[in-house]
Amino acid sequence: MLESPLHLSDRHFGMIAKLIEGQVGIKLPAGKRLMLEGRLHKRVRALNYGGLNEYVETLFEAGQLDDELTHLIDVVTTNKTDFFREPSHFTFMREVAVPELLKPRGRGDLKIWSAACSTGMEAYSTAMVLDDMTRTGSRFQFRILGTDISTAVLRLAKTAIYTRDTLEPVPPAFIKRYFLSAKDRASDEVRIVPELRRRTNFMRMNLMDSKYPVDRDVDIIFCRNVLIYFERETQRKVVEQLCAHLRPGGYLMVGHSESMVHSVVPGLKQVQPTIFRV
Ligand SMILES: C[S@@+](CC[C@H](N)C(=O)[O-])C[C@H]1O[C@@H](n2cnc3c(N)ncnc32)[C@H](O)[C@@H]1O
Repeated sequence: MLESPLHLSDRHFGMIAKLIEGQVGIKLPAGKRLMLEGRLHKRVRALNYGGLNEYVETLFEAGQLDDELTHLIDVVTTNKTDFFREPSHFTFMREVAVPELLKPRGRGDLKIWSAACSTGMEAYSTAMVLDDMTRTGSRFQFRILGTDISTAVLRLAKTAIYTRDTLEPVPPAFIKRYFLSAKDRASDEVRIVPELRRRTNFMRMNLMDSKYPVDRDVDIIFCRNVLIYFERETQRKVVEQLCAHLRPGGYLMVGHSESMVHSVVPGLKQVQPTIFRV
């Protein structure tokens, strides 16, 4: 039977799945094949290939992969995020984590890391809460780092420009204080204010790497809604490595569907189902 340009053969799907799991940690079971085909079409058309299988064959030819891997990763990663997603973590940060972390120090600098930050909404939600705390009596400075493997989402995170419909979960007082409207009144874009952008940095980082170029005295790490895509052994390695970057007493927050981390890394102190402390 002739190969269809719109479908991946078993062999070509297997080649991509193996590559992605090895490089990024994300599993691509057979059920993800349609999704992958759908997402790859645009790229394959843009590069003028005759079909998906031809694209995969070329990918594995000498020298091609390095150039294309960044695009492929952008294509296969799921970047869904929201401002104040899983809001109980932000309440916990305000009411418990930050006061606990500052108690022995009185005041100080807090370092927060949004690992797998997608378009930056998690990092900027954190920045809004922390800035709000400093306006209402708490005495501390803060810096936030956002990292992700996808260059496409990091570009968005750095520009900090979002459409107005993404603001639905943001409290009205925060919208007023932390977002700028476009000068063009017809535009539906808003931008995070410079005061928060200045305190937030983004860089590309793969959680699969054996070393993370990040300080080892981070106060709170958000690593949410990414571990779920990894195999158990990868989850264990990633969580152990992340915890090595927390200061004693620091917190790790994982997504609400990722509480299984507790059984994967048994030494972790569980404060709430998805909140851990070292
Ligand atoms: C579903 S989003 C979650 C975003 C945010 N943490 C949240 O909960 O709203 C998952 C993010 O993980 C990133 N990601 C996937 N594999 C990764 C890896 N190996 N290293 C770093 N980031 C990764 C993806 O690019 C994507 O932006």
